[in-house]
Formats: sequence, structure tokens, C-alpha cells
Amino acid sequence: MPEDSLTIVDNRTSTSYTIPIKNGAIRAMDLRQIKTGPEDFGMLSYDPAFMNTASCESRITFIDGDKGILLYRGYPIDQLAESCTYLEVAYLVLNGELPSRAQLDEWAQEITQHTLLHENIKKVLEGFHYDAHPMAVLASTVAALSTLYPEARNIQDPKVRHLEICRLIGKMPTIAAYAYRHSLGLPYVYPDNDLSYTENFMNMLWKKTELKFRPSPVLARALDVLFILHADHEQNCSANAMRSVGSSHADPYLSTAGAAAALSGPLHGGANEEVLIMLDEIGSKDKIPAFIARVKAGECKLMGFGHRVYKNYDPRARIIARIANEVFEVTGRNPKIDIALELERIALEDEYFVKRKLYPNVDFYSGIIYEAMGFRPAMFTVLFAIPRTSGWLAQWQELLQDSAQKIARPRQLYLGSPRRDFVPMAQRSA
Ligand code: ACO
Repeated sequence: MPEDSLTIVDNRTSTSYTIPIKNGAIRAMDLRQIKTGPEDFGMLSYDPAFMNTASCESRITFIDGDKGILLYRGYPIDQLAESCTYLEVAYLVLNGELPSRAQLDEWAQEITQHTLLHENIKKVLEGFHYDAHPMAVLASTVAALSTLYPEARNIQDPKVRHLEICRLIGKMPTIAAYAYRHSLGLPYVYPDNDLSYTENFMNMLWKKTELKFRPSPVLARALDVLFILHADHEQNCSANAMRSVGSSHADPYLSTAGAAAALSGPLHGGANEEVLIMLDEIGSKDKIPAFIARVKAGECKLMGFGHRVYKNYDPRARIIARIANEVFEVTGRNPKIDIALELERIALEDEYFVKRKLYPNVDFYSGIIYEAMGFRPAMFTVLFAIPRTSGWLAQWQELLQDSAQKIARPRQLYLGSPRRDFVPMAQRSA
């Protein structure tokens, strides 16, 4: 019997099957040979929410959830956050290697060239109500880009893919800033090519009548680090949406819109907004024990806590908690940090959270920083989507280059009614 194999005995038929193990996994398709007879379709694996299913081989991001380790292309997240810019990390995530100085300059130049939005997009934005949720605006506007770049459908051409990747990474901050200014009734600000990726975003958000907007270097760096921390996170809900939509060979704009839609939910990227709403509701430290009691009674969740993969402290949350202090030195302290720190302290000592290995995730502290910088909670998930675009596109590109991939199409276990004949209206019971 080969050492790297699994022997399964089907007790229904007393038949034994030997299935190869590769990279610590068996192929679900190898189960199909397990049948009770020629009429039997074959064994399926049942895994709602992909709790134990690897949907791809990937070389982009590694997470060890038990140890709280996160690597992009092998590099620890804390080292990248310490030493890189977001665009450098985006290059790494997309291309597999850190860029040389010349490569980084060329990459930054390419992205900068694509920050402008077609004027038609302004008309698209005008159609949205002033209080539309910015994530709905972002997802819809990204989808609308597909109408402007029909060549993007040519997904098998590497040159076209590269162009669309540059356009998406370049235009995402512009769309986000336009959505923000639309909600406030402010005129749109065109990109400023003299500024870095993050500075330019701040310029498009906050420039008023001054001739040149000069962002605080501390806040620009903090935002850049936050962008690095959000660049990719392997097969999360939105990356899976990107791959799933992309597997039908939809163009990258529509696939990214699908990924953004997945990110918007409160169980995923939308949690950062929910954390702030929760902290507002709690209001003060003395109300925390009563709130924790409600969480333990199952009445609500402690938003920003828990993760499908991390069963230890999310390393990104640790870095975010550190940069919060640097931001507060410029903006003044956001008093919600004290409620959050106390919530964390109590939760990490409480048996309910300890037993379930629930730790703060990336969304627990990020919103407090964003709010101190002047963002309102509805914008928080947009701030997640901008940098995650590089991760989505890296996942999409890897999918298209992987010969093992096909259209994503899961099976189901049908438990509904067996075949039956149509009943005319007059014969149906009330
Ligand atoms: N508050 C209270 N209890 C929780 C929380 C929480 N935040 N998260 C999980 N639990 C409990 C569950 O009720 C469950 O308890 P049980 O075993 O008694 O039924 C147990 O912990 C396991 O949780 P699951 O929901 O099975 O874990 P799953 O992996 O499916 O969900 C998720 C992960 C969605 C992140 C969940 O922890 C959650 O809803 N957290 C709050 C929302 C949040 O912060 N999301 C952001 C995640 S990070 C990101 O996407 C960027």
C-alpha cells in the first residue's frame, strides 16, 4: 500500500478503496468511485461553507491560524508593514516577488496613469441617492467600468489582464473618494499625480479650496500600512467570490464587483463598520459586562471577534493596535479605543471566548483609527476594498493560469420532493 494514501472501507459493500494523499489532502473526485452499484452516482463530500475543503492550490498568501501567522508570498506581514509601501506589497502579491527599485517606479507610474475616471462615471454616481451605502456605490461603479472597457473580456491575453489590473488598482481610490464626496454634495477632486497612492486618495477625499492638498505624513503612512494589512487573505469569502465569478470567465470588473459585494457583508469586511456601531451602543466601559452577558446569551455577536481560520490573535489586529497610538498623536485619542481595549481584556479572560478561541480580528481596531482620521463608519468597508483589490486580482490571475481550475460549480444533496405530477390550480388545497 503506498505510504501517501488513504484506505477507505465502504461498509455497505465491504469494498476497500485506496486514495492518494497529496499535500495533505485527498481529491474529492477520488471519492466518486465509491459506489454501491452501477446506478449509484458515487460518493460526494458534503461541506457547507467550505469548512474543510481546499478549492485551489495557491502560492499567494499563507495563514497558520493556530499560531497567528500571516505571510504574503512567504514574507511575514509585520516585516512588510514595517518596511514597504502598499504599492510595493501589491506588486509582490500580484507578481510573486518584491520589485526592484526600477520595477517599483515603473509599477507606481503605471498605476498613477490609471487613476482618472471616465467622465461618464460621474453621471453613474449622480444616479445614486446621497445616503446610498458607499459599498453599494463602490460595487455598482466597479461593475459599470465593465461598460467602458469591453476589451477586458479578453481575459486570456496577459497584456490585457495587466492593463485591467492597473486600471482597477488605480481607479479604486478615485471611485471611493467620488462616492464619499457625492454623499456630502462636494465637488469631485481629480487625482494628483505628484502624490503617492495613499496621499492622492486623501487628496481626493479631503481637498477643499487650497491649491495643493498636503496630507499629514503620519496619517498617510498609517493608511498605507492599513492598506498593506488588507491586501490579501487567501481564500476568504470575497476572494472565493472573485474566483467563483471569475471561473465563468466574466471580465475582471464584474468579478471584482462580485468580490466587493461579498466583502460588504457584516460577517466579512462589513464587520469594521459594525464594530463602531457596537462601541457606540455600549457607550462606556461600565456597560461592557452587561454587553458581554448578552453576547454569551446568544443575543448578539461581539463584532470584530472570531475568525474561520485564526484561532489565535490575528497578527493584523496586533499591528493595527500599535499604529492607533501614532494616529492619535496627530488626531487626538478616539475614546472608543478605551472601550475596545477593555472589551478585549474582558473577552480574552472569559471562558466563553477562550473555549471557542475567539480573538480580535482585523476589523476590531481598524474602524477606531479610521474614525479618528475623519471617516464615518459607512466608509470603513470601502477602505478595506481598495487594498483588497490587489489580492482579489492576484487570486483571479492565479485561477486563470491554473490548468486544474474549471467553472466553479458545486454539487448539492437534494432533499426535496421526488418527482410528482403538476396539480391544476382548482385542485390545490388552500
Ligand atoms: N461573538 C460571539 N460568539 C461568536 C463570535 C462572535 N464574534 N464568533 C463566533 N462565535 C461563536 C459562535 O456562536 C459559535 O459558538 P457555538 O460553538 O456555541 O455555536 C462559535 O463561536 C464558532 O463560531 P462559528 O460562527 O461557527 O465560526 P465561523 O468560522 O463560521 O465564523 C465569523 C467566523 C463569521 C468571522 C464569526 O466569528 C463572526 O461572525 N464574527 C463576527 C463578525 C466579524 O468580526 N467578522 C469579520 C471576520 S474577519 C474578516 O472577514 C475580514
